[in-house]
Amino acid sequence: MNGLVELEELAATAVAPVSGEACALENYLAQPDHTMDARIAAARAKLGTDVVLLGHHYQRDEVIRFADFTGDSYKLSKIAASTDARYILFCGVHFMAESADVLAKPWQQVILPDLNAGCSMADMAEIGQVEDCWDSLERLGVKNLMPLTYMNSAADIKAFCGERGGLVCTSSNARGAFEWAFERAEKILFLPDQHLGRNTAWAMGIPLDEMVVWDPYMLNGGTTPERLARAKVILWKGHCSVHQRFLPEHVDRVRREEPGMQVICHPECRWEVCQKADYLGSTERIIEIIEQAPEGSSFAIGTEIHLVNRLAARFAPLGKRVITLDDSGCLCTTMYRISPAHLAWSLENLVAGEVVNQIKVSDETKHWARVALDRMLEVKAATPVIRL
Ligand code: 13P
Ligand code: SF4
Repeated sequence: MNGLVELEELAATAVAPVSGEACALENYLAQPDHTMDARIAAARAKLGTDVVLLGHHYQRDEVIRFADFTGDSYKLSKIAASTDARYILFCGVHFMAESADVLAKPWQQVILPDLNAGCSMADMAEIGQVEDCWDSLERLGVKNLMPLTYMNSAADIKAFCGERGGLVCTSSNARGAFEWAFERAEKILFLPDQHLGRNTAWAMGIPLDEMVVWDPYMLNGGTTPERLARAKVILWKGHCSVHQRFLPEHVDRVRREEPGMQVICHPECRWEVCQKADYLGSTERIIEIIEQAPEGSSFAIGTEIHLVNRLAARFAPLGKRVITLDDSGCLCTTMYRISPAHLAWSLENLVAGEVVNQIKVSDETKHWARVALDRMLEVKAATPVIRL
């Protein structure tokens, strides 16, 4: 976030919206991004502690500079569960805002500045498909199974897991969540990211032939009762379109052309890439690894490009070099949808007494999703970095 003085100076130059009409989104989208800064700062100043702005590390610079807190999914959900602000403005994607609403107190309201900020991975597991999968697994003789979902899933999938004794995890505490599940069941159904599931299970010593992929678009998930009987982990066939683009040859090229450079990947990258990396970690842990490295260190990072560029700029003056693992720089297009205009629009509406783009999970879904999220919050982000 900017220094206080800079924000106050910005706020002083703001031109207030003239009328209720000025609060229509179109009026904001027609203006250049930089003209929103002073208005955002002024609205923030008016709202004071009534609003808290949470920013995921993939947000663009023009947005994240206004965040009160930045973090990975785990850290932001902890903050959402503990803040007393009346409005939680989530600069992230839909599943993060939903989770914040589930964890929030009844009088708090969660806002997602652009409702189009979704997550293509979360969209790969739809509740009807998951219910069908569960029934099919039972019919195919799978017993003693616990559902475990990645945070990157809709609230109804989280509720599905909570109701069946399962839980949620993030990339920070996936291993702890797997251990929690294996203390209570023989097998895990992991939703919806096959890569995080595979990387986590592998790091725990589970061989690949004890994992099976469930394809929701194929009869019996495209697998057999024999494979299911052998499997300890059933991986939903979902992935992140951003992280899927990193390939093993990108790591090979870094090894060849940049001797001494360390490779850190987000565990949403495919297994073949993670096998070649030096470290795996959530966005927050990636930052910590670089922070803790000595001057002169260099890193190639396999994650979203806004975070990588920000780290490159931040650490260059400290003598640490950061580059993207893949030259083409993978962008989370849905996260990118939240712009300064959306932020200004949401905040100025709050000043005018209007809550726009509220994310509200139904009470029924909320109950079991909360159970699953509370179980997650009990599992510490204690084993976030997997040294391969
Ligand atoms: P983190 O929890 O590591 O921030 O990851 C969230 C995410 O969506 C990564 O694609
Ligand atoms: Fe979803 Fe991938 Fe974007 Fe993360 S980077 S929010 S998993 S689409």
